[in-house]
Formats: sequence, structure tokens, C-alpha cells
Amino acid sequence: MGLGYIGLPTASLLATKGFDVLGVDVNTKTVDRINLGEIHIVEPGLDILVRSAVQSGQLTASLEPATADIYIIAVPTPLSADNRPELSYVEAATRAVAPFLTASSLVILESTSPIGTTEKIGRWLAELRPDLAAPSNEDSNPPGRNRFFLAHCPERVLPGRILEELVQNDRVVGGIDAESTARAHDFYRSFVAGEIVKTDARTAEMAKLTENAFRDVNIALANELSMLCERFGIDVWRLIDIANHHPRVQILKPGPGVGGHCIPIDPWFIIDSAGGDAPLLKAARGVNQTKTSRVVEDVQSKVEGLTDPVIACLGLSYKNDVDDLRESPSVEIALQLAASQAGTILAVEPNIVELPAKLDASGVKLVDLETAIAHADIIVALVKHREFLDVNHGALASKVVIDTCGLLR
Ligand SMILES: NC(=O)c1ccc[n+]([C@@H]2O[C@H](COP(=O)([O-])OP(=O)(O)OC[C@H]3O[C@@H](n4cnc5c(N)ncnc54)[C@H](O)[C@@H]3O)[C@@H](O)[C@H]2O)c1
Repeated sequence: MGLGYIGLPTASLLATKGFDVLGVDVNTKTVDRINLGEIHIVEPGLDILVRSAVQSGQLTASLEPATADIYIIAVPTPLSADNRPELSYVEAATRAVAPFLTASSLVILESTSPIGTTEKIGRWLAELRPDLAAPSNEDSNPPGRNRFFLAHCPERVLPGRILEELVQNDRVVGGIDAESTARAHDFYRSFVAGEIVKTDARTAEMAKLTENAFRDVNIALANELSMLCERFGIDVWRLIDIANHHPRVQILKPGPGVGGHCIPIDPWFIIDSAGGDAPLLKAARGVNQTKTSRVVEDVQSKVEGLTDPVIACLGLSYKNDVDDLRESPSVEIALQLAASQAGTILAVEPNIVELPAKLDASGVKLVDLETAIAHADIIVALVKHREFLDVNHGALASKVVIDTCGLLR
């Protein structure tokens, strides 16, 4: 259920491992493209895998689910405008599979989810299918009953390395009951080379959220250092290099903020589940968001005194060498610069062919690197894409350069 960055690589990998896979998505264009053996996202190696999975007949895409032994839910779990987890996609996917469940069906939630979501799915399914016994975490499930199984197995892959990490990463599987955990474990064992750690559903949910909260807090330190170093006139990259010579210090890299579908969102799931009582996680979110605003302010201060300034934003995606613009601080920076009429805003993003509607409507222009460098007064390096690594430093000599990602180091 869901053929995006997680669902499509998973579906095609399983298909090439011999499973009969029905990939379900609510987006007609996505379904049509996949059935042609084509892909709608950028991920190394995915085009070949999907083509071969579709051509072999092991993978078919559809708008509707069907009866299956295993249902994997990999739909979005975004945040609402007031930083609350949005579970409507998970609920819709659950409702869509409910009529097809049979005795012994295994339902796996892969979407990153707030604590208690797997139990919620169990309650929804129990309501929708009173003819089947729902698993209970009280271990009162007599074996062999007309029941289904339910587990959470959060996904931890890194975009850009998804196909490799789907197989190599360690996984955590947490069932609603021991039998659900065991069945989910056996399923992942059939294609995962990494260790598969068994736990309960709530711990599995919290484990995934903890991993991304860990990243957010640590990036917040790097971003706070970058803002402090600006004030102190210290090169933050050199500072971090030096501090990391300490045998037990490993400071991460600063950037223009924190983006993507996971790290800036998942800490809010914990904060929400805790009723707001998670002060360190809230502070880290605040620091990382402040860093994005600081980059905008920095550019705005450099624009002062220039006539018809041209500002080039190098990179829009949330990290290097991917096309994923979700929650990207670079997009936010380009939008804020455009909204404040700081000048003509050029964006260079080699991984997309057109700007998303809101950037396009804001007047930002998508150009290639040479055009940007030729015309810009101010260059804002936002993402360290491989296409930017050989940028001609000489051509930048006459420009104001704001390097948020260490591109020029
Ligand atoms: N992208 C990542 O790197 C990553 C990594 C780890 C975990 N996750 C988590 O995995 C989940 C999925 O993320 P993604 O990046 O694959 O999202 P995505 O937006 O790329 O894909 C989700 C897909 O689900 C489809 N969809 C929405 N509602 C549906 C429904 N009711 N039935 C069937 N399909 C439906 C959408 O059309 C879309 O194609 C999220 O919870 C995310 O946090 C993502």
C-alpha cells in the first residue's frame, strides 16, 4: 500500500526475490507508469529493478488492493500545520485492505508512526472485520484461531542508497503479540541480510522516532555552532574538524536547516505523544528552524546596496544527489527570498526538470549552473550535489558567496 520512495523499492525488490507483488497506490499516474515498467522517483538502480519486476510479471500496480498473505502499509505520515501527526493516509490504507483480509493475513505498518498507531490499526481492523479475531498484546490469542497478525517494521533506508539498504540494514520488527512478531520476523528474514531485532509494536514505533530525533538533536548542535562561529568570526568547518579529533566527539555537519520526510517531522511525533513534554527535542527543532531563517537574513543583508540583485540558490533538494524536495530548507529559503523581493532568484537543481508549482508561482527561475554563476551577484550554496563539486572557484571570485553546506571546502 503506497508506491513511493519506500513502497516502490520494497515492492520491486520483493518481486525480484520471487514474491507475487501487487503494488497499490491511489495515484493513477503512478500506477500507470509502473505498469509500463517506468518509475516516477529518482533512486539509483530503481529503474532497472522495476522494469525487470514488471516485465517478469511478478510486480503489477493497481489502484485497488486484492487478497494477499501479507499487506505492507508504506503511505505518508506527514505533520499537520500545527505539528500534529496526520494518520489519515494510514487509516485510508487500513480501511482499503480490511475487506480483503483473510485468516492468517499479516499486516505490516512500515510508515513512520506515532506511538500507539499499530494498536490503532488493530482497533480499526477489528471494527471493520468482526469475523476475524484481532491480535491483542495481552497474549490471549489462541493459536490457530481465525485471526490476523499485525506488526510494525519501520523503514530506515537512506534515499540514494535505498536498494542496498533495504537488504543490508538491520531491521526492527514489533508485533502486537509474539506470534505477529515471529511472522513479521520470518518475512523480513527472507530478503534482509542485516540483523532483525524483535520487540513489541510500541517499542518499534518509538525506536524509529528516537533514531530521527537523535539525528535532529545532533544536527542542531552543528547548526548552533555554525551560527555561533559566524558571530565569533571562526570557520565552523575547521572548528568541527578540530573538535572531531577528540576520540569520543563526532559532531555532524551544519547546513541550511534540516529537511526531508523524516528528521524534521519525527521528533514532533514524540513531542505530540508526550503532550509537549520533550524540552530537548523541541529546542532542537527550534535551532534547526532558526538556522534556515538565519540564511535568509544573511542573504537579505548582503543584498543591501545592490541594484537589481541576482541571487543563485545552488540546490533545492533536502540533501545531496536526490530529487526529494520535501520539507527542504533550501526550498524554504528560495521561497522566503522571493517573497521578500530580495532580487531575482535563480535556482539550480540538477535532479529536477521543472520547479514545483509554489516555487514557480513565486517567480523563482530554474536554470543550469553555468547560467546561475554567470548572472548571479550572490551565490548561496545550499546542497552539496555532485554536479556542483567541480564549480570553478575562479568564476566565484567576484561574487558574494554564502556557503551553508561546505561546498567550497
Ligand atoms: N522516504 C524515506 O526516505 C523514508 C525513510 C524511512 C521511512 N519513511 C516513511 O515511510 C512512509 C512512506 O514514505 P515515502 O517516502 O515512501 O512516501 P511517498 O510520498 O514517496 O509515497 C507514499 C505513496 O503512498 C501513496 N498513497 C497515499 N495514500 C494511499 C492509500 N490510501 N493507499 C495506497 N497508496 C497511498 C501516495 O500516492 C504515494 O505514492 C512515511 O511514513 C515515511 O515517513 C520514509
